[in-house]
Amino acid sequence: MIPSHIGFIMDGNGRWAAERRLPRHEGYSYGLDALKRVLGRCAARGVDVVSVYAFSTENIRRPDEEINAIFDVVRKFNLSYDGSMRVLYMGDIDALPEEVARSVEYIESKTASNKSMTLNIALNYGARDDIVAAAKHAYDHGAFTLEAFESGLASAALPPLDLIVRTGGEKRLSNFMLYEAAYSELVFLDKYWPDMTESDVDVIIDEFEKRNRKFGR
Ligand code: FPP
Repeated sequence: MIPSHIGFIMDGNGRWAAERRLPRHEGYSYGLDALKRVLGRCAARGVDVVSVYAFSTENIRRPDEEINAIFDVVRKFNLSYDGSMRVLYMGDIDALPEEVARSVEYIESKTASNKSMTLNIALNYGARDDIVAAAKHAYDHGAFTLEAFESGLASAALPPLDLIVRTGGEKRLSNFMLYEAAYSELVFLDKYWPDMTESDVDVIIDEFEKRNRKFGR
């Protein structure tokens, strides 16, 4: 079966740039090119939702140059995207620079009725914060059930996260969709994110199709 929802931890952009003697922050625009290739192939293979980790709450501690480069790539994407995907964001968008937050609002409303694949972008996002917000949501509704909790997660309206893929060689989740990851299949690739191609998506989906998912049964 084709995964309905894939999460990508797009790691290795800085190292990719450094290996080419480019400034680290230039890696992110090549990362966006890779994302476009990956999204195109995911859509062609029938994936419903792709979630990507663009900026974590911890990334704010990085040098300004890198932070600004990521925000720049995100803002340019938001203002220029003209395709058929629905684009959503999750994370603390209000705390971002105003022009970034405005570009998020712009693309979300522009693509709201798009019906092809959904791109869900985690920006200024941390799974622990999201879990705390979901717990508060359940508390406010006076219902400590799984349903009340899950309806408070940023991903509440999305299908279960079938698969998480991390590039760049590290084997950890780094505060990305931790609750949703409960029964996700995990794939770790040694290559850097900007090197991702359409055929890597095919390899990932083939690998997923071979897995025997038991959900604890
Ligand atoms: C991880 O570390 C990656 C990021 C912090 C951000 C990745 C963001 C993009 C590729 C832009 C995506 C754009 C949109 C519109 C969603 P790193 O790449 O800094 O890697 P390192 O491990 O080599 O230092």
